[in-house]
Amino acid sequence: MKTVYIKTYGCQMNERDSEAVASMLRDRGYTIASSELGADVILLNTCSVRDLAEQKALGKMGMLAKLKKRNPDLVLGYMGCMAQSRGEELLDNPAVDLVVGTQRFHRVPDYLDQLLASEDLEQPFRVVDIAEDPGSESTIRDHVLGTNGDRQVVAFVSIMQGCDMYCTFCIVPHTRGKERSRPIAEIVEEVERLVAHGVREVTFLGQIVTSYGRKDIPKKNGRSAFVQLLETVHEVSGLERIRFTAPHPKGLGDDLVAAYRELPKLCEHAHLPVQSGSDRILRAMKRGYSRAWFLRIVEKLRAARPGIAVSTDIIVGFPGETEEDFEQTASLMREVKFDQAYIFKYSTRRDTPAAAMPNQLSDEVKEKRNQAALQILNDHLARENQRLVGQTVEVLVEGRSDKKPQRMFGRTRTNKGVVFDGNQRHKGQLLQLRIERATLTTLYGDPTIHNL
Ligand code: SAH
Ligand code: F3S
Repeated sequence: MKTVYIKTYGCQMNERDSEAVASMLRDRGYTIASSELGADVILLNTCSVRDLAEQKALGKMGMLAKLKKRNPDLVLGYMGCMAQSRGEELLDNPAVDLVVGTQRFHRVPDYLDQLLASEDLEQPFRVVDIAEDPGSESTIRDHVLGTNGDRQVVAFVSIMQGCDMYCTFCIVPHTRGKERSRPIAEIVEEVERLVAHGVREVTFLGQIVTSYGRKDIPKKNGRSAFVQLLETVHEVSGLERIRFTAPHPKGLGDDLVAAYRELPKLCEHAHLPVQSGSDRILRAMKRGYSRAWFLRIVEKLRAARPGIAVSTDIIVGFPGETEEDFEQTASLMREVKFDQAYIFKYSTRRDTPAAAMPNQLSDEVKEKRNQAALQILNDHLARENQRLVGQTVEVLVEGRSDKKPQRMFGRTRTNKGVVFDGNQRHKGQLLQLRIERATLTTLYGDPTIHNL
């Protein structure tokens, strides 16, 4: 039986795509390896959102090419966003056999069958497939679901593909294509299947979930297609928690705010990428909202669901960003007090409008602003996590802690990770934990007072 190792770069969507490919390969009789050692096939599922992510995957393939010198039967491939954006040019590296784009993941099993069958041919056989595929949004549906001991408690569900926003810095519309959404019934069926296998929390994934279904599903009683989806999935019994990522601030309407009031399974957490606190930069980014609009949404969410955690993405050093613009971002961070923020230095992406804008900033300036933004975030997190010490929180136990396998790990409804001394029988349970101590990234809890 041939073994395949898949290494994933980038976002949760990529993790989900890799999982679906792994499941399809398993069904085809392949073994999924947990490391590249001894694997017959190594696939890199790539990210293009920043240059660093591309460089990492290219560097990795360079190393794998050396491995292939010693083991010429090794099959090597690229999948995902960089495969889509670079295509054929990735074959410049003669070690690469396979390049599969973001709408053709479901073709990987066939291509591997063909590549492995052609091993002995004189003429090397190579595949590049970056075609558009109508209906590809419905092909990421298979899950690797464990049984008993290793069963999965939380799962990601891809509800749509692509993005039509074309923010001026972003390569995603080029790598992921036009917005296409799966039907509600199909998503509900997938969630029901997951719950039947013991999953208790789902996270809906899409580049811009607030645009879900807007082309095909009419509004009903003022409710957008996305809110209709949330309401329908909320009915699935046995499902405890619902999350989603990422909404767009521009599309966050009052119907979604109301959903936070009305749907108890919807967790108290919203990941709302703001990108910048300066109206001038938001306009140059073509984000379609202002600083005041963003602040108003946060206020509405906090009124609808007291205690809701708000996280965000921020880009520092966008072309033309002045000290005053950055100060606007810094003051927005101080004002909102985000529960988490992913701060990125602007990275020039080819074929995006921002790449051609004047006043590109130096890495020194970007780095300085990156550090300043991180400082604001960390100052707040240190205070906030200390505030939680002594409080009792509800945690859904996902399994063993990665770092300390003798401990268990779970998440609060607000998406904070909690580590505690428990055992495997806690997996899948909702526990009340008293927070005993906290670091910037992790809370440490004690289950013994409650849940005896
Ligand atoms: N809609 C998706 C966006 C995917 S990109 C989502 O919200 O998940 C994820 C984040 O990467 C963006 O929110 C943005 O903050 C960052 N990003 C995108 N393009 C970038 C670029 N050219 N340079 C730096 N960061 C970028
Ligand atoms: Fe990118 Fe903007 Fe869409 S950040 S994914 S173009 S909403």
